[in-house]
Amino acid sequence: MAFRVVVLVSGTGSLLQALIDAFPAGNGLVEIVAVGSDVREAQGLARAEQAGLATFVHELPRFAKRGTPVRLAWDVALADIVSAHRPDLIVLAGFMKLFDAPFLERFGGRVINSHPALLPSFPGMHGARDALDHGVKVTGATVFVVDAGVDTGRILAQRACDVLAGDTEETLHERIKVIERDLLVQVVRDLSKEQTA
Ligand code: GRF
Repeated sequence: MAFRVVVLVSGTGSLLQALIDAFPAGNGLVEIVAVGSDVREAQGLARAEQAGLATFVHELPRFAKRGTPVRLAWDVALADIVSAHRPDLIVLAGFMKLFDAPFLERFGGRVINSHPALLPSFPGMHGARDALDHGVKVTGATVFVVDAGVDTGRILAQRACDVLAGDTEETLHERIKVIERDLLVQVVRDLSKEQTA
C-alpha cells in the first residue's frame, strides 16, 4: 500500500512540484492524497489541480494570533480536514503558518517541514536573507520534524550550499531551493520506505 502524504502550501509551490514530479500517480511508493493551502490564490494549488490531485483551502481569519480562540478553532478544523485524508505524513512545503497545539497533538511526529538554511542557524521567515546579512559563506537546506517551536524540531536531513559573491536574497534563495527540492523528495522517499519495510 502506498505511503499517504498530504502536502500543505502557501505560495509558489515549487517544492510541491518536485514531489509531484518524483511521485507521479500510481508509482506505488508515495501517494500525494491531497494538497491544502491557507491561501486561495496559492500557485501551489493550481499545480496540484493541474496534476489531478485533490485540493482544499482553509483560510485563516485575519488577525487570528496564535493561542486565540479563533486561531485554535482554525487549527482544529485544519486537523479535521487533513485527518479525513488519512495521511501517513504531512509535508509543509512553503506553508507559512505555525500550528497551535491541537494540530501537533493529532499528528505529532508525522509533520515535516523544509527550511532554507542550515538549522539551528537562521530559523524563521527569512532563512536566506538572514544568512546573507550575517555574512556566512556556506548555508543550505534542512528538513525537520515540526514541533511546537519555530524551526526547532528534530533534524532529518541537511544539505549545504555555497554563498557566492554578489548573491542577493533572491539568487541565494533560488539556489537553496534547487537543493531543497531534491532533499525533500529524498526524505519523503526514505520515510515511505521505512514505513513499508
Ligand atoms: C522554501 O524555501 C521553503 O523552505 C520556504 O519557502 C520556500 C517555498 O518555496 N519556507 P515554494 O513555494 O515551494 O516554491
